[in-house]
Amino acid sequence: MAVGNEGSRVKEPWSGRTVLITGAAGLLAGWVERELLEAGASVLGLDNAWDGPRATTPPGGIDRIDGDVRDTALLGGLLSGRGIDTVIHLAAQTLVGPAIENPVDTFSNNIEGSWSVLEACRLASGVRRIVVASSDKAYGDASGQPYREEMPLRAHHPYDMSKAVTDMLAQTYAATYALPVAITRCGNLYGGGDLNWSRIIPGTIRSVLIGEAPVIRSDGTFVRDYLYVRDAAAGVVALADAVGERPELGGTAFNFAAGFRMPVIDIVKRILTLMELDLEPVIMSLPLQEIPEQRVSAARARRELGWRPRTSVDSGLLETIAWYREYLGVAR
Ligand SMILES: NC(=O)c1ccc[n+]([C@@H]2O[C@H](COP(=O)([O-])OP(=O)(O)OC[C@H]3O[C@@H](n4cnc5c(N)ncnc54)[C@H](O)[C@@H]3O)[C@@H](O)[C@H]2O)c1
Repeated sequence: MAVGNEGSRVKEPWSGRTVLITGAAGLLAGWVERELLEAGASVLGLDNAWDGPRATTPPGGIDRIDGDVRDTALLGGLLSGRGIDTVIHLAAQTLVGPAIENPVDTFSNNIEGSWSVLEACRLASGVRRIVVASSDKAYGDASGQPYREEMPLRAHHPYDMSKAVTDMLAQTYAATYALPVAITRCGNLYGGGDLNWSRIIPGTIRSVLIGEAPVIRSDGTFVRDYLYVRDAAAGVVALADAVGERPELGGTAFNFAAGFRMPVIDIVKRILTLMELDLEPVIMSLPLQEIPEQRVSAARARRELGWRPRTSVDSGLLETIAWYREYLGVAR
């Protein structure tokens, strides 16, 4: 058995499989790529923005393809000629603020991008397992109740809706075409390699490392359910494996979260404590259009996949802080 991290259960069958990952230059993809490479899979990574500093993508080993998931000819060519038997679709415009400023761009990347990938899988023969990334945000506001997979998707804001539609497209392809596709709905991911500085955890750590007070755009009360990215990656791989073996999982969504929920102000203070710094966060109290409270139950993933989050919040945050120290070259 190959083990990608303490918590992963990546099994030998990955050896000899060829996996296409979309959004391959992103945070989650980088850790999924590591898991799969360690397990012996061949990995092709598709992304339309490889040019930035891409920190989590393993330096060697994956075959990088520069292209857009909306390019159906490109996808068709890849899926017909490369022996791909697994597709993990993670590509998306993932930032909530830009989605509000330019919803059409987000809808196009996320919704058209998703149907393009699903349709290419439908037309290709030989794709035996597919995972599509939805999000806990697809549920919308559930008045603080823990999200469970049978709850309706009640997204109201552009990014959230783009993930709800992605989710339902995957369900549609499973129900109508028996496509072996399962869906992830992860809580808020954090971990080394996230270069989206507008996100609270990387933004806070970077501010502290460069000697500035961390900035909270909201009033700090939004509750989020945080999940260490390596645990999420192990979940994605476990789900991909399972949907290939168990056709009844087609169209099924799985929440992944650690049950580590707290208001934004508290996670910022926890990071400051772990970094042993006494800085006062700047609270901007901007009127953000975001879900006030998100709690996620991962009971189904635990039960059906045997998945467990293996990383405690403090060790996850400490590993993350260490990663940014090294990346930014700051000893502080
Ligand atoms: N980060 C989180 O907290 C979180 C939580 C729940 C769900 N998700 C979902 O998980 C997936 C991965 O999230 P992440 O945080 O790693 O994202 P990320 O922003 O780090 O990476 C996304 C990648 O997709 C690429 N991309 C975007 N549009 C594309 C297109 N049209 N064609 C090709 N590539 C394109 C981007 O260049 C980027 O490299 C996303 O689908 C996201 O919606 C993320």
